[in-house]
Amino acid sequence: MEPIVRMTNISKSFSGNQVLKQVSFEIVPGEIHALMGENGAGKSTLMKILTGIYSRDEGDIQVNGRSVDYKDPKDAEKDGISVIHQELNIIPHLTVAENMFLGKEISISKTGILKTKIMRRETKKHLERLGVQLNPDKNAESLSVGQQQMVEIAKALAAETKVLIMDEPTAALTDREIETLFKVMNELKSQGVAIVYISHRMEEIFQMCDRITVLRDGSCAGTENIKDTDLDQIVRMMVGRALGERFPERRVEIGEERLRVEGLSNPGLFEDVHFSVKQGEVLGVAGLMGAGRSEIFETLFGARRKSSGRIFVDGKEVKIKNPYDAKKAGIGFVTEDRKSEGLVLELSVKKNLSLPNLKTLSNWGVISAKAEKAMADDFINKLRIKTHHADLQVKSLSGGNQQKVVIGKWVGINPKILILDEPTRGVDIGAKKEIYQIINELAAQGVAVIMISSELPEVLGMSDRIMVIHEGKVARILDKDEANQENIMQAATGGYRCVETMGQ
Ligand SMILES: Nc1ncnc2c1ncn2[C@@H]1O[C@H](COP(=O)(O)OP(=O)(O)OP(=O)(O)O)[C@@H](O)[C@H]1O
Ligand SMILES: [Mg+2]
Repeated sequence: MEPIVRMTNISKSFSGNQVLKQVSFEIVPGEIHALMGENGAGKSTLMKILTGIYSRDEGDIQVNGRSVDYKDPKDAEKDGISVIHQELNIIPHLTVAENMFLGKEISISKTGILKTKIMRRETKKHLERLGVQLNPDKNAESLSVGQQQMVEIAKALAAETKVLIMDEPTAALTDREIETLFKVMNELKSQGVAIVYISHRMEEIFQMCDRITVLRDGSCAGTENIKDTDLDQIVRMMVGRALGERFPERRVEIGEERLRVEGLSNPGLFEDVHFSVKQGEVLGVAGLMGAGRSEIFETLFGARRKSSGRIFVDGKEVKIKNPYDAKKAGIGFVTEDRKSEGLVLELSVKKNLSLPNLKTLSNWGVISAKAEKAMADDFINKLRIKTHHADLQVKSLSGGNQQKVVIGKWVGINPKILILDEPTRGVDIGAKKEIYQIINELAAQGVAVIMISSELPEVLGMSDRIMVIHEGKVARILDKDEANQENIMQAATGGYRCVETMGQ
């Protein structure tokens, strides 16, 4: 079949740094084509060139056999090319409906009056197709990251699309939303829409895609039919070597209780949460989007106000009223939303890494530039953060590399307890393993690690115990040996509780 999009020998440099080298890529109608590669390989850049966000230095782009040179994403949209971007483009103070129709407000041609009513109705319709119940009049800033993502997806689906580019659409979603999204994708595919699917989740690639193209360091490492390839081959194409075990083994003596939480409540969000974590233990936290997982730990960390509950660190009760108290008690927190909470995008990689570590770095209140640089370089090496140098602004890094900076920033303060909220979201398979190794090292040093994650394989592969949250309550705490995808999902959807009550 004739490709609908054909990109040939595309090259691109950013201030002398070549990030795409003679890349060729094509998609045919009715296929889901995976675009994979390590963080910083150039996936988003290639798609931004296709849609006119960036200009190319070299190469040719044909859409429907015609050479194009879009100057603006709107030009691409006119040809039926829509994008769901990796960075969410939601405007916080606008409503859901206003965000959906941003830039293409429906107007009555004669009067120019916005048809708010139609916009609302359409918004509802498109969200419902994705199984999402959201009030179109709600302000976007009150939405969770996952809900914002669903609005972005609905927005792209609202357009008459022939080519849909999805840049890590599932990174912020949990299983149930992903399932609906996949149904919609298959529907579009059967209607002949061509989909470019960027994701670091291998399971999704094998489940959904027909072909895969891998980028390595800005070059094309090859295109394969999914049914003719396997995980090992894809990883080799991505990183140039075999990966070995996905989840590195942890040999850690689990020690004394490090953190105990009793009756923690925050009305409307969650109630009566009890759990404990020991030295060297990794507690995984699973649950559906909106179950209250992040809220529990934001409250524990003092970023939200609790109504009741007691917190003990190493057997001693601690009073936590704000994040400063939490840090003093030895608690570190890697937040899920790197954009608004985790990073200062305008500052350099070095500054971001050293910000929470000022005390360790300063002598008599003066920060040693040498120590700061040494620490930053150490983290950049250890976490394999792909940046030209430590003084580059964080916002010029690829998504996954920004995530590594967030983690590095907290690891440096030597916390007793480290809470990681979706630590590997958007991180490539090799870097994921590096993050797992860091988690294992921290555990070996006696840190109690809490890992909130929507990726079940990761929760299962990394946790000693798994706490499942359902509608603001601890539905179940499972030991590693008894946990599997089924019983986690059952507890996460409220199935376990029902079975229990019925039995009584
Ligand atoms: N606007 C920019 N200015 C300077 N460098 C940039 C810019 N955008 C991207 N880069 C660099 O280009 C390279 C490719 O980045 P890109 O975002 O395309 O990677 P990616 O494959 O999408 O990675 P990820 O999986 O982390 O999202 C990276 O080294 C990145 O730092
Ligand atoms: Mg990207």
